[in-house]
Amino acid sequence: MPSPPPTLLARLEKANQAHVLRDWGALDDAARAALVAQIEGIDFAQLDALRGAKPADALPARFAPVPVTPAAYTAEEKARGAEALRAGKVAALLVAGGQGTRLGSLQPKGLFPGAPLSGAPLYQLHAEKLFALSCRYRRAIPFLVMTSPATDAPTRAFFDENAHLHYAPDQVRVFQQATMPALCPRSGRLLLEAPGKLFLSPNGHGGALTALADCGLLADLRARGVEHVFYFQVDNPLVKVCDPGFIGRHLAHGSEASSKVVYKQDPEEKVGVLVETGGRGTIIEYTQLPRELAAERDASGALRYRAGSPAIHLFALSFLERVTRDTAAALPYRPALKCVSHYDPDTGATVAAPPPTAPNALKFERFIFDALPYAERWLTAETAREEEFAPIKNATGPDSPETSHVAQLVLYATWLARAGVETNGNLVEISPLFALDEEELAAKAKRLPPLTGPTILN
Ligand code: UD1
Repeated sequence: MPSPPPTLLARLEKANQAHVLRDWGALDDAARAALVAQIEGIDFAQLDALRGAKPADALPARFAPVPVTPAAYTAEEKARGAEALRAGKVAALLVAGGQGTRLGSLQPKGLFPGAPLSGAPLYQLHAEKLFALSCRYRRAIPFLVMTSPATDAPTRAFFDENAHLHYAPDQVRVFQQATMPALCPRSGRLLLEAPGKLFLSPNGHGGALTALADCGLLADLRARGVEHVFYFQVDNPLVKVCDPGFIGRHLAHGSEASSKVVYKQDPEEKVGVLVETGGRGTIIEYTQLPRELAAERDASGALRYRAGSPAIHLFALSFLERVTRDTAAALPYRPALKCVSHYDPDTGATVAAPPPTAPNALKFERFIFDALPYAERWLTAETAREEEFAPIKNATGPDSPETSHVAQLVLYATWLARAGVETNGNLVEISPLFALDEEELAAKAKRLPPLTGPTILN
């Protein structure tokens, strides 16, 4: 392939993007083929439209606080959810395409130590919860793990090296999300990562839906008799994966999309807020909610827009099938200005990432919660922060390993105290394999030996 394919060159020239071929002469055959494949994957008309589009993250014209159902599930709801798990009707979808950049790591976040004493990685904690539930209900729960190009290989290696974390290999399905090119915000030119290599980024967690449909996993779930998909993020070790009460309430309501809510602690907390607009549920991201609205209080003194999203959802499979089939329901791409280091083919030099005040890249992501307004029947359910939300996002400060580990240890200490176990002041970590919840811990409490030091119950 001595010179670029003429049709490709013509396409690039028409789109004012021929600079991406500037280093063609210096590329070997494999690099040329890879570049051609990258370019062929680009929809230039779509990119143009996205550049010129009104931001998809504009606030809804009218919205109001969302009704939230109470945290306590009835015995009937729990039984109904348990029955769905026993019948194999629920699968779990973990989105893990992000790297631990804010944690100062280029590794997948799932490999980050999530547990406070054992240091068990986040992937292990999630897989063990699912395995424990599968044992309790004597039915495997299909575990879908979405990765990105950066997290795929290390994620697969981790599952392989750890014998799929108790799972049968065909019940853990690792699949990759798609990517989107990044543009220079001023010129609209495609950015390059290196000579002859486009700068591509994961297309957001909302990319999970098309990725699931495209790789045949939605059809596979349908064939296995799955009817509902539990969605969660990799960074929250406290998430009650496939919570039976939540499943039962979703079923009783005939809901297409159900979302958990944690009440916001303060106006500045970086969580999206669930609101109602035109009779539908939606989430306003924390970056979009104006400060005055975030700080507004109701007559009782509580934050008016307090229904924070821990990013825990349950979707009917039929709903996911509908939104992935119906092009009118395609999730929008949201543009975001970012600061990236990239290669400049005009100078042949690498441009260092600028300071946050001078972003140099326009990236495009889909957000899973943009599917929520398509649900005709939906609900939200409160969950207690101390029981279910302690994400690990930042290296220090709020939502850091330290705050998450403390929250886990406090929760386990509460379970133990209520079960009458004397910890003698020792720190205790409870593995999901030992007890998934307070009731299971209480049932095993009498058999515990006296605790004489920091203890990992597993
Ligand atoms: C997210 C939510 C926010 C919510 C908060 C709860 C968004 C835009 N915001 O914020 O509303 O209150 O979590 O903790 O989601 N991911 C992928 N592929 C991608 C991008 C992200 O799989 O292309 C995954 C990450 O691995 C992670 C999750 O999505 O598991 C969340 O992404 P992140 O960027 O950390 O969102 P937050 O800003 O923390």
